[in-house]
Amino acid sequence: MLSGVRVWVPLAATLFRTSCLGGCNRMRSPQFRGFSWSPRLISRWNTRDSIDLPNEDNPRILITGGLGQLGVGLAEILRKQYGKENVILSDIKKPPPEVYQCGPFVYADVLDYKNLRELVVNYRITWLVHYSALLSVVGEANVALARKINITGLHNVLDLALESCLRLFVPSTIGAFGPTSPRDPAPDLCVQRPRTIYGVSKVHGELMGEYLHHKYGLDFRCLRYPGVISANTQPGGGTTDYAVQIFHDALSTGHHECYLRADTRLPMMHIGDCHRATVEFMQAPECQLSLRTYNIAAMSFTPEEVATEIRKHVPHLKVTYNPDPVRQTIADSWPVRFDDSNARRDWGWKSMYGLEELVSDMLSSIHDKRTSAGLPVS
Ligand code: SER
Repeated sequence: MLSGVRVWVPLAATLFRTSCLGGCNRMRSPQFRGFSWSPRLISRWNTRDSIDLPNEDNPRILITGGLGQLGVGLAEILRKQYGKENVILSDIKKPPPEVYQCGPFVYADVLDYKNLRELVVNYRITWLVHYSALLSVVGEANVALARKINITGLHNVLDLALESCLRLFVPSTIGAFGPTSPRDPAPDLCVQRPRTIYGVSKVHGELMGEYLHHKYGLDFRCLRYPGVISANTQPGGGTTDYAVQIFHDALSTGHHECYLRADTRLPMMHIGDCHRATVEFMQAPECQLSLRTYNIAAMSFTPEEVATEIRKHVPHLKVTYNPDPVRQTIADSWPVRFDDSNARRDWGWKSMYGLEELVSDMLSSIHDKRTSAGLPVS
């Protein structure tokens, strides 16, 4: 009797995991880079109940491209939930000293497969958040590099996630849509013919991840982010960057020169909502996900609308418009609104910041930062 219990209890637990948590249990022996894995064995090891092994409720997380706009903030939230040592931030750049103080930071080059694999093995990584990418404007200025980082780098990460049975998060974007996509709103599934290398690489990522999910059971998760607005970190060369810069200009010179037309409407999101969406989506049980790539929405505004809202706090803000043809053409090809009803229905997504909350939070955070740095506030 006792031995029957010993056999059946773990078996029942495994069957539950297989039916609800899925993932690599459903894999059909992929062969990549000369390795042939027994998925069942990998899965057993990765989900084994143990105090010191990472498991479903206690993941070990690697974040690539961690020194961009999103990595440090996401690491902070994940470290609060899963422990400082269980979240490894990485980049090819040298971080400022305070990043080292917050938790583990390692060098990781997404173009170096062996380097990535060593990290995954040594740190017993179970979740990977892949933030390395060149954004829309810098991508157009250096197409060859964007192709390398955004496509070759992604392939390394996909192969590694498959081999090591990782839960893999890759962000996508409003940039994954193009002029022939429905714009108001853009649904999850529709025509996607972007005209930037950034957008092309992101559609490629969505499709590769979904393909590997359907064929081998890779636990691939992808959110299409709107333009992300943050006070403490700078975006790195995107079309939506004006929506961060305008707050800094409002409190420094009181003048913002906008590279988009006053009426250019784009989907946007406060970084707090973006991080929360990412964490909630990563934590969602697989059985709740009817899709692997979801739009997430919070608000849509034009430069003139955000300026009007800022003027409620900084009445002297002056904005002049000097549209840059490259960025204006990109923005005009993107959706003005996202339909995120699938994310709301499947895993309970709901934004918390509207335009009013976003503007007052941005202004007070930047105000505090300037004051503590001894900088004047206009
Ligand atoms: N923020 C990005 C960009 O503007 C869009 O995802 O390129």
